[in-house]
Amino acid sequence: MSFKTTEDHEALRAKVREFAESEVKPLAFLLDKENQFPEEIVKKLGQMGLMGIPYPKECGGAGLDMVSYAIAVEELARVDGGTGVILSAHTSLGSWPIFAYGTEEQKQKYLVPLAKGEKLGAFGLTEQNAGSDAGGTETTAVLDGDHYVLNGGKIFITNADKADTYVVFAITTPDIGTHGISAFIVEKGWEGFTFGDHYDKMGIRSSSTAELVFNDVKVPCGNLLGKEGDGFKIAMSTLDGGRIGIAAQALGIAQGAYESALEYSKERVQFGRPICQQQIIAFKLADMATKLRAARLLVYSAAELKENHEPYGMESAMAKQYASDVCLEIVNDALQIFGGNGYLKGMEVERAYRDAKICTIYEGTNEIQRVVIASHIIGRMPK
Ligand code: CAA
Repeated sequence: MSFKTTEDHEALRAKVREFAESEVKPLAFLLDKENQFPEEIVKKLGQMGLMGIPYPKECGGAGLDMVSYAIAVEELARVDGGTGVILSAHTSLGSWPIFAYGTEEQKQKYLVPLAKGEKLGAFGLTEQNAGSDAGGTETTAVLDGDHYVLNGGKIFITNADKADTYVVFAITTPDIGTHGISAFIVEKGWEGFTFGDHYDKMGIRSSSTAELVFNDVKVPCGNLLGKEGDGFKIAMSTLDGGRIGIAAQALGIAQGAYESALEYSKERVQFGRPICQQQIIAFKLADMATKLRAARLLVYSAAELKENHEPYGMESAMAKQYASDVCLEIVNDALQIFGGNGYLKGMEVERAYRDAKICTIYEGTNEIQRVVIASHIIGRMPK
């Protein structure tokens, strides 16, 4: 298998890199320190046509492919992991289910402004008792005339109160397991829909993460996504694609840490020569570069499969699991190359080290990715 990006892909990379270097990087330390969401940056990403990269122009998108989307997330995460996940959660989780399962009316009303970057999207699946076991959803939606009444809560929601629309999963028919879960489009500002406090996170601190609280929220029947009972499949298929975004985020964080360690290793002199010329450091850099190349091929090839409408669930899980596992190894090696200097606040590699960890946890822990990969190889695991 070979994979090669096109000239258009590389032109997009150059454009996003230029933006990331000139507009995101200078703010990244402040955003991290202050736990601050980059409102202006997100607005500019919309103006640049980057908030709906893989959606057709008639849906408000840029009409580009999934590899372009992965490159954009990667390039943002290269300078700031938090900004990378804002784009990923918005595009893959907040917008894709509406693109894939929405009616024409829902697409016009919700997807078009999301893809144009006029609105921000989020995805409400995880609950206190339904993390890895997403089928354990307890939030309920009870039909009452022309609307459903939504009660319950979601935790760890990326983009949280900064978003405008939320794809939310709730039980419409109890006691029939995952077949009783339905998906809804919920708008910020509806009565009874509130947010918990922002989490004080270890990393990706420029992204906003909080709880969603639903207290007798009236959701019009017209906001049911797909049919009643389709929710779990909508959630799972959304995550299949979402994992490409997190894989790209991990790749970007790792790439940024690798580049800064490489540069530092050329300047830092010990024992009379730059440390990159000491074999132990040179070999570390060689391993980092190899892991990056392998991760990049997995990420782009999963994106290409999705773009070509070929099966990609296993490949996206492999990409997410591998890219995030090696991301942790790479940021660890990068910090080691920096030595004591890398351990200081204000160093990019210190921030990358903290940003990296979440990639092995969210959008399915890497243990769950292995469950997904194994189920593609040998069938579903016994429960
Ligand atoms: N696409 C479509 N349908 C799917 C599917 C997929 N990828 N995977 C499973 N299904 C269907 C199955 O075919 C099955 O359908 P039938 O009952 O009709 O046969 C049904 O869903 C149930 O399947 P399973 O029995 O395999 O489901 P399960 O309860 O064992 O769960 C799981 C499987 C893979 C462990 C799943 O629960 C899972 O992915 N868990 C992780 C959740 C997760 O990733 N959460 C991330 C939250 S979002 C986030 O983190 C974003 C962020 O912050 C940035």
